[in-house]
Amino acid sequence: MPDRRLRNITILPGDGIGPEVIAQAVKTIQAIGYRYNHEFKLDQALIGAKAIDETGNPFPEATFEKCKSADAIILGAIGDPMYDSDPNAKIRPEQGLLDLRKKLQLFANIRPIKVYKKLLHLSPLKNERIKNVDLIIYRELTGGIYFGKKGRYEDGKIAYDHCVYSENEIKRIAHLAFQAAMKRRKKLCLVDKANVLETSRLWRSVVRAMATEYPEVETSYLYIDNAAMQLMIAPSQFDIILTSNLFGDVLSEEASVIAGSLGLLASASIGRRSCLFEPIHGSFPQAAGKDIANPLGTILSVGMMFRHFGMDIEANEVERAVELCMNEGILTIDLDVEVHYSCSQLGDLIYSIIAEDLEQINKRQLRMGSSSII
Ligand code: IPM
Ligand code: MG
Repeated sequence: MPDRRLRNITILPGDGIGPEVIAQAVKTIQAIGYRYNHEFKLDQALIGAKAIDETGNPFPEATFEKCKSADAIILGAIGDPMYDSDPNAKIRPEQGLLDLRKKLQLFANIRPIKVYKKLLHLSPLKNERIKNVDLIIYRELTGGIYFGKKGRYEDGKIAYDHCVYSENEIKRIAHLAFQAAMKRRKKLCLVDKANVLETSRLWRSVVRAMATEYPEVETSYLYIDNAAMQLMIAPSQFDIILTSNLFGDVLSEEASVIAGSLGLLASASIGRRSCLFEPIHGSFPQAAGKDIANPLGTILSVGMMFRHFGMDIEANEVERAVELCMNEGILTIDLDVEVHYSCSQLGDLIYSIIAEDLEQINKRQLRMGSSSII
């Protein structure tokens, strides 16, 4: 029986290439709705620099309300170079994202790193090293140094950022990470800096105690400096990596080079009531408005949303469509500088593959259908 429940999805296009990749995500949702007879209600809202321009607030109250009542949120990207050059700017677009995470308590950020056979050559790492990589980073997202007390004293000449974690904050994400490990290769690695930081020592003792509840999971511990190196020299050793907010930010960006392009990576941020799906890449302002951005990270994030809804068939279908494009070499310019397709062409194609259940792509037709292909 198809699940006919109406699902409300709040769409936050954001800044830079955000609106362009989001347009392709919307096509993907519509294709799944059409093919499997689901009903999705999409509602847009402002966030980031766009929201500052229009309301003075990077995360307006109206956006918060729409996000709170949604079954899921899809976000494009946030950030505008106008604010990067001014370290004294009082309001920053990124604050919108941090507020969104905090107010909706999206405490677990899940970032899968996977390699696609056809794209192995794009990674700066040796193919031998990366060909079996399939790992997921579980990054704590609403605590730690990002949200501790911060400030300045001595006339602004001294600054501080406090890093604070509670047992409960660690436990709730650690449980999700252990449960994910149970469904996979049953390996979990906690990454911390327990040789120096008190918060890391708390992480370690909490996770060590919890490991007894998951005896089948092989639990290991690495310091962040060592983990950063291991990720480059032997990334296939990892299954689930569990870590705090700042370490997860750095490690997930480092891990993204394994896949060859930041544009391919998807993520989910999960709370008790809310969930948000977004590509890992930023707003890439240089590419905005040119229809050259890679929409696959956002489309794969939509796939993660369906999986979160328990719609595994639909999630598999999104992944199949993306892999079909990759296998056929239908890629954006970040992945193929010679023959490439536009962001919207990729979105249209993904729509057709899903809606019409295509198993093959007629490249000639695709080329003739558009004049913008180089
Ligand atoms: C990320 C980003 C954000 C973060 C920024 C934009 C605030 O780098 O989602 O990884 O640091 O969490
Ligand atoms: Mg980051």
